[in-house]
Order: sequence, then structure tokens, then C-alpha cells
Amino acid sequence: MKLLAPSILSADFWRLGEQIMACVEGGADIIHFDVMDGHFVPNITFGPVLLESIKKHCPLPLDAHLMIENPERYIPDFIKAGADMVSVHIENTPHVHRVIELIKKLGAKAGIVINPGTSLSLLEEILHYVDFVLLMSVNPGFGGQRFIERSLQRIRSLRAMVDSINPNILIEVDGGIKEDNILKVSRVGANILVVGSGVFSAQDIEAQTRKLKNMLISSEAL
Ligand code: DX5
Ligand code: ZN
Repeated sequence: MKLLAPSILSADFWRLGEQIMACVEGGADIIHFDVMDGHFVPNITFGPVLLESIKKHCPLPLDAHLMIENPERYIPDFIKAGADMVSVHIENTPHVHRVIELIKKLGAKAGIVINPGTSLSLLEEILHYVDFVLLMSVNPGFGGQRFIERSLQRIRSLRAMVDSINPNILIEVDGGIKEDNILKVSRVGANILVVGSGVFSAQDIEAQTRKLKNMLISSEAL
């Protein structure tokens, strides 16, 4: 299964509703929602209030990627606002089992996120509990960064770990994915492809979404 998840971090917020609907019309599967607090990452974005407004109009699942300190404090608010998927970073979540169980108990899909410099071995135990892993292919904080090439090997290794521990887990990859590398990332084992600037910097967002989605569909047919 290959799913396209546009990240609204690179949207024009003046036209946010219109641009999200362009993604919907273009065949996106999920809307990726990057939450940053200016502490865990050096940038500040948006919170549950915005997610709630999007939820009222957007028919797609909403995927809240929490780049914040003390994520457990805000998880109930995000799920109440309508987040269907919630992920927390392994790097700032000491009681990771408790937090993953909290997300599931509140009715959302639970994900663990891992930064480019963090060893995959740290995921081994929590893979028994999560619904998805979000592997960062840039350092979190900003859209428009360059894809770190070593991520391809990491996705391959993660795929092998997931297949041996819990094959139902989906692998989501986030950062620097564009039309020139999306198929490479997909082929090494990603299921959910997050694309921010690669969708929203296009003149025609709907056409760009459709193009990326069609690339994923035709690669699956091979
Ligand atoms: C980075 C965010 C990403 C980002 C991706 O911290 O988690 O979701 O928006 O944007 P691009 O595709 O432009 O790298
Ligand atoms: Zn993200």
C-alpha cells in the first residue's frame, strides 16, 4: 500500500482551505500536520485549534506529527480536535510505551518518529505496540530541506525490522521527498510518503498531487 500525505507546513496559509481541497481533488490519501513548539525543534507552527477547523471540512485522515516537548500533555486535545493518526518522537518521549498506549486508547493510530541521527535499534521494543513508524529523512523543524541520502538504507533496515517484529506496521517517510526521489523512497519500503514543498510550491497543487499519486500507483502495478 502506497499512500501520499501532503504536509501543509509549506502551504500558503492565506489560502489553506483551498489548497487542502486541491490535495483532496488530486487524490491525496492523508493530510500531514506538523506541530512544532519552538523547544523540541527551532520553529513554531500550529496546534489543535487549526486541526479542528480542517477536520470540519476535510474528508481525509489527519496525521498529527508532534515535534513538541511533553507530547502526552497535548495528545488528548489533538485527538479530540480530530487527529486520526498521532506520532511522537522517540528522542523526547521517555515513557514511550505509556504514550503510545494513550494514543491508541483515545482512538487514534499511534506512531513513533525517529530522527536521522538516532539509531534504529532504539525502536526494537516499541515496534510491538505501534501502528506506524515515521522515519525522518531530514532533521525536523523546517520544510524545504534536502533529503538525506542515507535514509534509503535506514528505510531498508527498518523494513526488515518491521517485517520480522510486526509486519502490519506502516512505514512513513518525511522530509525532502519530491518527484525526483519519491519512487526510490517508495521502493525501499515506505508505505506513506510525506511531501511538503514538493506539492505546495507547484503552480497547480491539484495537478502536482495527482502526478505524485499516479507515480505511486503505477510503480505498485509493476
Ligand atoms: C519537517 C516536517 C516535514 C516537512 C516536509 O520537520 O516534519 O513534514 O513539512 O517538508 P518537505 O517535503 O518540504 O521536506
Ligand atoms: Zn512531518
